Amino acid sequence: KIKIVTIGGGSSYTPELIEGLILRKDQLPIAELWLVDIDDGAEKMEIVGNMAKRMIAAAKLDWQVHLTLDRREALKNADYVTTQFRVGLLDARLKDEVIPLANGLMGQETNGAGGIFKAFRTIPVILGIIDDMRELCPNAWLVDFTNPAGMVTEAAIKYGKWEKTVGLCNVPFGHITQACKVLGKEEKDLYFKFAGLNHFHWHRVWDQQGNERTAELIEKIYSPEQQERTDEGLKNIHQIPFHFDQVKHLGLLPCGYHRYYYLQEPMLAHAIDEFERYETRAEVVKKTEARLFELYKDVNLNYKPEELSQRGGAHYSDAACDLIASIQNNSGKLMVVSTRNNGAIADLPFDCVVEITAAITSHGPEPLRWGALPPAARGMIQLMKAMEETVIEAAVTGDYGAALHAFTINPLIPAGDTAVKVLDELLYAHKAYLPKF
Ligand code: NAD
Ligand code: G6P
Ligand code: MN
Ligand code: MN
Repeated sequence: KIKIVTIGGGSSYTPELIEGLILRKDQLPIAELWLVDIDDGAEKMEIVGNMAKRMIAAAKLDWQVHLTLDRREALKNADYVTTQFRVGLLDARLKDEVIPLANGLMGQETNGAGGIFKAFRTIPVILGIIDDMRELCPNAWLVDFTNPAGMVTEAAIKYGKWEKTVGLCNVPFGHITQACKVLGKEEKDLYFKFAGLNHFHWHRVWDQQGNERTAELIEKIYSPEQQERTDEGLKNIHQIPFHFDQVKHLGLLPCGYHRYYYLQEPMLAHAIDEFERYETRAEVVKKTEARLFELYKDVNLNYKPEELSQRGGAHYSDAACDLIASIQNNSGKLMVVSTRNNGAIADLPFDCVVEITAAITSHGPEPLRWGALPPAARGMIQLMKAMEETVIEAAVTGDYGAALHAFTINPLIPAGDTAVKVLDELLYAHKAYLPKF
């Protein structure tokens, strides 16, 4: 029997997770489910936690559900600890978006200056959770959904020394679904290989006969005549079409987030436009979240409402619950996860965390060897990884010079006076959540 603990239990995504666990009830011998939050999220957790209890009761399961603000009580003898928290809640995200945008730079949850600051706020918290885990549940798996998931996972493994950490994202799911739709196939009839970093990966696709279908997918998804199929189902990314010739030249399928880099100017122009209309993503999500919690309050609602698909992280439970079930049952299932590179991507250090297709075993992910990336991808990924490593270093040490270096390396932040100004403004705005700086 297993005990699962979810940190950030007040998230509006909780019903997503519960639905996923219920769907896999035969693979998961669950005894206890603990939702953990902090004072600021207590009310949200109460509402969504009761919703979770109704879902579990409706499924006629005898799982014990506990809601608590006491993390240490919850972690005791846990088998799986999942995280879905947001330090500073959506108000902090709004600052990550609007402060860079007001200075003419991209403001986004996991990219550019805002993404760097989300890492600065989150990494100290994840390391604190690990300190508690070492004492209270030394054998537990840490399944991280908290963004920026790649950097948080790397911090947990490298600095927290928690080897049993796996990071997750729903973006690969969107691309798998898209490829299935375009080729008219089911997932089981295609073979996918992803490699890169979280929100910065590429993939290739083969069919059951062994034919590579990547070029055909590039043609069907990105050629100007067929652009209506560009959508990979991410509600939070403005879907500007990639340059067809550029994708063709690379010969790999990009992920939705690559738009911030390959299409930096038009993506920034669009974001500035939204900023001027008070419609940055945090503002939109605040409204969606308010509507969701109104729905969750309904004592007759005992299933995940359709409205949740308006959030960018829809379907994340498929990843989280598949991962737990695969570890639990030593299934060897192929999944895309953030895990230690171990040489799978030849162009990156062995000890860094990459997002890659891996076989999920009871001892964790075994990444499939990808090999080397073409120069056009290698240059970008090496830069991005060095940026991530520097961000993590700065988050751990609070070194201002390291933070400025991270800004300088980041392709979405031009080096110079603006970088210093945005860094200082963000440090001031998030002061309460940055004990190291
Ligand atoms: P949210 O703003 O609703 O926050 C979730 C909960 O975390 C809140 O109830 C909050 O009180 C709680 N919290 C904050 N600090 C905490 C702490 N120190 N300890 C425990 N709980 C704490 O956030 P959300 O929109 O539900 O997103 C949750 C997280 O999941 C974010 O980090 C977000 O970026 C991430 N996310 C990841 C993906 C992915 O693909 N990996 C997709 C969507 C969202
Ligand atoms: C995406 C990503 C997440 C991201 C989220 C944003 O699909 O995979 O990492 O944080 O959606 O969703 P939101 O609805 O909060 O803008
Ligand atoms: Mn993600
Ligand atoms: Mn820069």
